[in-house]
Amino acid sequence: MEEQTQSPKRRRLVLVPCPYQGHITPMLQLGTFLHNNGGFSITIAHTRFNSPDPSNYPFFQFLYLDDGIPKHEAIPVDLIAVLLDLNVNCRASFEDQMRRLIGGGGGGAGEEVVAGVIYDEVMYFCEEILSDLKVRSFILRTTCAAASLARMALVRLNDEGYFPLKECMLQNPAPELHPLRFKDLPISLTTGFTKYPTLVKGMYNLETPIKAEAIIWNTMEWLEESIVAQIKSKSTTVPLFFIGPLHRIASARTSVLNEDFNCLQWLDEQANGSVVYVAIGSIASLGEKELGEMAWGLANSQQPFLWVVQPGAVRGSKWIEALPDGFREAVGGRGCVVKWAPQKEVLAHRAVGGFWSHCGWNSSMESLSEGVPMLCSPCFGDQKVNARYLSHVWRVGLQLENGLERGEIENGIKRLMDEEQGREIRDRAKHFKEKIEAHVKVEEDQFSSRTHLKDLVSLLSSF
Ligand code: UDX
Repeated sequence: MEEQTQSPKRRRLVLVPCPYQGHITPMLQLGTFLHNNGGFSITIAHTRFNSPDPSNYPFFQFLYLDDGIPKHEAIPVDLIAVLLDLNVNCRASFEDQMRRLIGGGGGGAGEEVVAGVIYDEVMYFCEEILSDLKVRSFILRTTCAAASLARMALVRLNDEGYFPLKECMLQNPAPELHPLRFKDLPISLTTGFTKYPTLVKGMYNLETPIKAEAIIWNTMEWLEESIVAQIKSKSTTVPLFFIGPLHRIASARTSVLNEDFNCLQWLDEQANGSVVYVAIGSIASLGEKELGEMAWGLANSQQPFLWVVQPGAVRGSKWIEALPDGFREAVGGRGCVVKWAPQKEVLAHRAVGGFWSHCGWNSSMESLSEGVPMLCSPCFGDQKVNARYLSHVWRVGLQLENGLERGEIENGIKRLMDEEQGREIRDRAKHFKEKIEAHVKVEEDQFSSRTHLKDLVSLLSSF
């Protein structure tokens, strides 16, 4: 009798990113890794708003969620409101799409099964729908663990009566969150704590038990060992995977905006380690006055610079019309301003010696991975936590403590780029680059991202 060989199950994973660049990027990188290394078929369930071009990802299937976000709001005026809206608006189309997807496969040998859905922590509306449909869920957290811990603590601090924050409290240590001060907490000091609790409670399951099979984190356990230990002690039953930095795990072009590659040629003409790269991520915005302070800080530092100003990032301007009179003449060929850069290539360029950054988590890990020291000026949210850790715990950056003021900027750039003054920071940044390289390549120990990735693929393959 002929023996029947059962063909292995084909597994599909559905990935639900939050539709902003800093969230889209790690999700697409994770999808690329799981496709290339676990053999999973990947569906990206994306909002119509801000979608990456599917033709750039022929190996992914795309399906669309109705989001109700106006296209012109690429840089949101009220981010928290948009995120809350997404959690309402996307529900119906997500449920509909999921029903169709799981209805299509029988799960028998050789057939395709939906092994699970990995959703961005911000898109927490998915959980209830998946639970009803009996589909396994996994959460992707795109911030560092310290930022998550700080966000989880906000509700407690609010209950203890600390908000709205009083000006005189800002420099005080935040209780149980060493080394964070109140000013480093991931909330807006101006708008206070009104809509935020709903978002934080949803993202961190503060009022409902976690139903997800696992939580995946785009950070490194070895980098945040003590924070991770605290988080583990709070969520004993759910497996946690620390698999960052994802851009070093899977190389995928993930930019929603067109990158200006000409700036790499400009960098080719600059001396080694001489250029300050300046970028504030994808959703922060500036007033005209702040733009002017940045411009004069850069001009007065006398250092060459490559500066990204995203169209619409200066409030009330299309692009850089509001640059101060005399600035262009003052900097001449020493400065290059672009709308959007190929950031990872820029940071890897031999000419770049420092990164003046808003300290978004992707940007922070991209800088650490290339051993580039940072000048930290966080704009909002988790960036403030990241900046504190970069400057005071990992000590690879200098923080601008008083907002954007030209004198402080000039001094910060000079200190960071000066051969003598910046040496220790530069040496530590190089050390991080080497450590990251080692931990993404091999299973150094149980804290290595490579070890976590192997365990994650085994878990996903078991369903
Ligand atoms: C935000 C938060 O700030 C971040 O901490 C959170 O984890 C995700 O949401 P964003 O402000 O956009 O993200 O910053 P960041 O996390 O640094 O992500 C920006 C991404 O855009 C980076 O991957 C960076 O390489 C890319 N980028 C930025 C470009 O490709 N070109 C540019 O010119 C600027």
